[in-house]
Amino acid sequence: MVKNVYFDNAATTPIRAEVVDVMHEVLKDNFGNPSSTHAFGRSAKTQIETARKSIAKHFNAHPQEIIFTSGGTESDNMLVRCAVQDLGVETVITSKIEHHAILHAVEYLAERKLATVLYVKTDADGAVDYTDLAHLLAADDSKKLVSLMHINNEIGTILDLERVSNLCKTHDALFHTDAVQGVGHYAIDLEQIAVDFLSAAAHKFHGPKGVGFSFVRKNSGLQPFILGGSQERGLRAGTESVHNIVGMAKALEIAYAKLEDEQQYLKELKAQAIKQLTDAFPDIHFNGCCSDMERSTFTLVNVALPISEEKASLLNFHLDLNGIACSKGSACQSGSAKGSHVLEEVVPVALKNWPSIRFSFSVFNTQDDVDYLVKTLATFAKE
Ligand SMILES: Cc1ncc(COP(=O)(O)O)c(C=O)c1O
Repeated sequence: MVKNVYFDNAATTPIRAEVVDVMHEVLKDNFGNPSSTHAFGRSAKTQIETARKSIAKHFNAHPQEIIFTSGGTESDNMLVRCAVQDLGVETVITSKIEHHAILHAVEYLAERKLATVLYVKTDADGAVDYTDLAHLLAADDSKKLVSLMHINNEIGTILDLERVSNLCKTHDALFHTDAVQGVGHYAIDLEQIAVDFLSAAAHKFHGPKGVGFSFVRKNSGLQPFILGGSQERGLRAGTESVHNIVGMAKALEIAYAKLEDEQQYLKELKAQAIKQLTDAFPDIHFNGCCSDMERSTFTLVNVALPISEEKASLLNFHLDLNGIACSKGSACQSGSAKGSHVLEEVVPVALKNWPSIRFSFSVFNTQDDVDYLVKTLATFAKE
């Protein structure tokens, strides 16, 4: 029997029912423009500021340090481009396995000669080479920004935020982290960790799409990114998406209230997936270090499957036909097909013609889903 199984939670997560409820209330009863000074506007404004306080609290941040945006892409663009434009950053250090929201933003800066872009070495696990990072930071006296993602969205490798922030402090560099895949899944204490800027998106933690936030440390000197009204302390003009912001705050509140239980649940689910996949495909390769529960997030596995090239071309179609949603990601083989830039860096050359797939989990997945997935894959491989 065909089931509907959603294993693409790194792409987006289903919204929680409680979040829909609060958003519905706002849409129904709180339609005022937060910039209006009458009671309708004041009420909407209160909703936004309450959400801001609630979000800041989870990160030990000041409410003023939370700037609402349309999501991860906008936050990444805003923070990296403004650091260069407004803060005198001359060199941006990033890696080749960042999300395109960062990679294309730094390419833009480099093409226009607005900044020099350096790429820190990463290894086959997708881990940053901290010695190389220290070396790049010490290379010259230019003002530097390090932009490295907290959790890699394709292979799950976790960055040691504290270690990078200490290196940045030592070398007087700014530190931005794209924490889109980490916020809502991991505790992040911004009083303990000297991150200057952070990006987050609500739809990765069971909130609505089209809303996120930038953490901008107090007195950063950042200038307006979108010009217009004085919303978001003038940094990001435009009438706020009140229902989305309130929904995001609710989603984050639930995520952090249930953090330990949900982390435990997902760790067990991922461990089961690893075991069952290995039993079914003894030669399977776990891309990056995603089978290492300490160094890779519990929310995903990315595997290269030992199946024939002929079958590989039908794999995604077959999974879709069987109701399984996941993400295809293949390393570029010939240079002609556009593969994943992340897998290109981490998949061993000998395995580059195996199909790679990412299965990403949420608390709405069950053990039954994992059983169904592995059975479907095993049957397909044998047919
Ligand atoms: C690590 C990372 N950064 C940025 C983004 C972009 O976020 P958004 O879809 O909210 O623009 C994503 C989305 O997949 C992501 O995984």
